[in-house]
Amino acid sequence: MTKTPARTLLVLSAAVLALSGCSSMKDGFGAMKEGMGEMKHRMMGDGPSATAKLDATKGNTANGTVTFKQHGKHVMVHARVSGLKPFGEHGFHVHEKGDCSSGDGMSTGGHFNPTAKPHGPQDADHHAGDMPSLKADASGSAEARFHLEGVTLGDGGPTDLSGKGLIVHVGPDDYKTQPTGNSGARIACGVIEPTKR
Ligand code: CU
Ligand code: ZN
Repeated sequence: MTKTPARTLLVLSAAVLALSGCSSMKDGFGAMKEGMGEMKHRMMGDGPSATAKLDATKGNTANGTVTFKQHGKHVMVHARVSGLKPFGEHGFHVHEKGDCSSGDGMSTGGHFNPTAKPHGPQDADHHAGDMPSLKADASGSAEARFHLEGVTLGDGGPTDLSGKGLIVHVGPDDYKTQPTGNSGARIACGVIEPTKR
C-alpha cells in the first residue's frame, strides 16, 4: 500500500508543528507539574522536609534513614534504623553540629538546645533536640514515628533542625542526667540535610 503525496505532506507538516511546539510545550508541562506539586504540598499541609542518613561510627553497626517534615507547627519524624542491639533501647537526639567527621560522633557537640532548657522527656522541659528513644526488635531494627514541638525545618531560625547532627546512642536515655541523659557512646551519626522538591 502506498500513501498519497497529500497524506504524506499532512503527516510531515504535523510532525514539523509538533517539533516546533516541543520546547514551549515541555515548559508548559513542567510548570503545570510544579504547580500541582505545590498545590499538593499545600493541601497536605506539608512544609519543608529533610533527610538524615545515619552511618555507624567506628566499631559499630547501627545505620539507617530518618526523615523530617514540617507539618503545621510540628515536625514529623520517621526513623528506620537497623544494626542495633536486639531489644535494645537507644538514646536518640538532634545534636548541635552537623559534623560526623570525628568518626565517634563527638564532633556533633552536645544536644541541640536553642532555648536553653534542661535535658528531659517530651512531656516536660527538654532540649529542642531531645526525642523519644529508639526501641529495637529481635533483629535489632527500630522504626519510630513521632512529632516534635518547638522546632522548625528550613526557616533559618534558631530552632531550625536543618544542618544539625543526629545521633543514636548505645544505651537508653534516662531523661534525667544533665545535660546528656547518660545514654553512652554514639553508635550512629548523621546530618539533617534539607530535601529539594
Ligand atoms: Cu545524643
Ligand atoms: Zn538533651
